[in-house]
Amino acid sequence: MKKLIAPSLLSADFSKLREEIEMINSSDADWFHIDVMDGVFVPNISFGFPIIKFIKKYATKPLDVHLMIVNPDQYIERFRDYGADILTVHYETCTHLHRSLNAIKELGMTAGVVLNPHTSVSVLEDVIYDTDMVLLMSVNPGFAAQKFIPQTFEKIKKLNNLIQKNKLNTLIEIDGGVDDSNAERLFEAGANVLVAGNSIFSSSDPKAMISKLKNL
Ligand code: DX5
Ligand code: ZN
Repeated sequence: MKKLIAPSLLSADFSKLREEIEMINSSDADWFHIDVMDGVFVPNISFGFPIIKFIKKYATKPLDVHLMIVNPDQYIERFRDYGADILTVHYETCTHLHRSLNAIKELGMTAGVVLNPHTSVSVLEDVIYDTDMVLLMSVNPGFAAQKFIPQTFEKIKKLNNLIQKNKLNTLIEIDGGVDDSNAERLFEAGANVLVAGNSIFSSSDPKAMISKLKNL
């Protein structure tokens, strides 16, 4: 089973972004997690194309771009052009989710769907076949350093059942409040990819924290 770590750059020190990117390049991390917020779908605005272009220039690992924006369809191609390798869109923002996921795949990216904490795994029953990865939010999207929602464990179990029942290899990613107190249990429950922002970047040794989360 895959155990991947995706540090979230939302918590990075942007005054030394190049160094933060190099730190991740030389760490045990697997992906760069990049949070794009529009101030409409979520009550916060993060960053957009120029920053992603800069990250892509120096990153030696795949970019996992998490879109917290309304109308993601209209930007899918541009995110690919700016360097996204994995692109995730929120179920709550996609009227034609099947179309969005296939558009992402047709452009050569890994296609993921994100569920807010209140959205049931059952809504994926008829689209799981077209989904490379499901990202379960373990906080309400919009901000770093929030408290992990324990109900997430139950959702991982339900999602795992759905994936197994259909004999698929869909990855399960968890985002929000992940730290060294819950990472091991999350992997054990069936998560494949853990996103972590605050727990890595507020640590006195971020590289060591990445290794710890991965090898717990
Ligand atoms: C929240 C973002 C997360 C966030 C996670 O909306 O999707 O990726 O950066 O941050 P932590 O790990 O600090 O909860
Ligand atoms: Zn995220």
